[in-house]
Amino acid sequence: MKSWKKLVAVAAAGLSIISLGACAAERGGNSGGDSTSSDNLIGISMPTRSLERWNNDGEHLESLLQDKGFATSLQFADNRVDQQISQLQNMINDGADVLVIAAIDGTALSPVLQSAADAGVTVVAYDRLINRTPNVDYYATFDNELVGQMQGEFIRDSLNLDEGAGPFNIELFAGSPDDNNARFFFAGAWGVLEQYFTSGQLVSPSGNVPASLDQWTQIGIQGWSSQTAQDEMETRLNSFYTDGKTVDVVLSPNDSLAIGIAQALQSAGYSAGDSWPIITGQDADVANVQNMIDGLQAMTVWKDTRSLGAQVATMVDQIVNGQTVDVNDTETYNNGVKVVPTFLITPQVIVRDEIQGQLIDSGFIQANQLHGLN
Ligand code: GAL
Repeated sequence: MKSWKKLVAVAAAGLSIISLGACAAERGGNSGGDSTSSDNLIGISMPTRSLERWNNDGEHLESLLQDKGFATSLQFADNRVDQQISQLQNMINDGADVLVIAAIDGTALSPVLQSAADAGVTVVAYDRLINRTPNVDYYATFDNELVGQMQGEFIRDSLNLDEGAGPFNIELFAGSPDDNNARFFFAGAWGVLEQYFTSGQLVSPSGNVPASLDQWTQIGIQGWSSQTAQDEMETRLNSFYTDGKTVDVVLSPNDSLAIGIAQALQSAGYSAGDSWPIITGQDADVANVQNMIDGLQAMTVWKDTRSLGAQVATMVDQIVNGQTVDVNDTETYNNGVKVVPTFLITPQVIVRDEIQGQLIDSGFIQANQLHGLN
């Protein structure tokens, strides 16, 4: 429907859809990737290049869309909300038909998405839900609450909490407070682990345990920064683990935090082996998979971003061609204004023994990027 709305909007502006080919030809390269001449321009807005996964997401989706013959504008916003907004506005001004957006702050895009709606542009939220606006048409992501649930269940099973084992010293971390996903990750883990705090099998010497799910941002790490996570873990170690007490487990919602947490533990004298804490993660970043090989991280939740990219490319194709857009969840993701039709992909737990069979054999990570696996 929005495509027709776009045609009307473009005609009203005295432009013809055919001119997009000229615009596309003039556009040339940009910070993310070159566009190809096409009647349809797809804007791809990624949050940052500083975290490994978003480079994979952006470049892979760009190549899939260009293979389908679309013009593309791939932009990375350096984790700066104002930069992402201006990049989005430029894509709209360039005549984008569809915007695919991994929002830095899912609550900050309402004005620019109104501009997109006025121009008849269809919006797909990518991996992170965009909130507080009716002008987001679809959402594609992995099952975020399941990611956290997997992390919680891994801790439960690794410590035999179901058999009454404990008490264990645990430190809890959550993702960036401005990232809608981070709440879902923590909710999934907390849904598994809360009962073991109640039973006393899990205790947190630092006391950094949200009193309720709504207070999850209390343990959030802004911008998913590895350095901030390292600093926070160092503070906790220096303040609450001075009497010979040791950390047994750390809930880390993703790999960028886990890297910083592991660094803090090593700096405090912890080393790989029986005394090294169970640390969770997410994204299967190369550095963290190497840490798994080296015994410094117990697991990561793998979200094969290639499957997310393929699904979004299919959705974009369906949108541009006026076809029914595939979704498989029309209930879960209420963005505060409406329930956004969503396509959910199932994530997968990876432990050391599965690195070869899942990550290397599938080509997600190259063998020469790792050492010591065999
Ligand atoms: C989340 C994303 C995770 C995690 C984090 C850091 O929104 O779903 O995969 O990596 O961002 O970018």
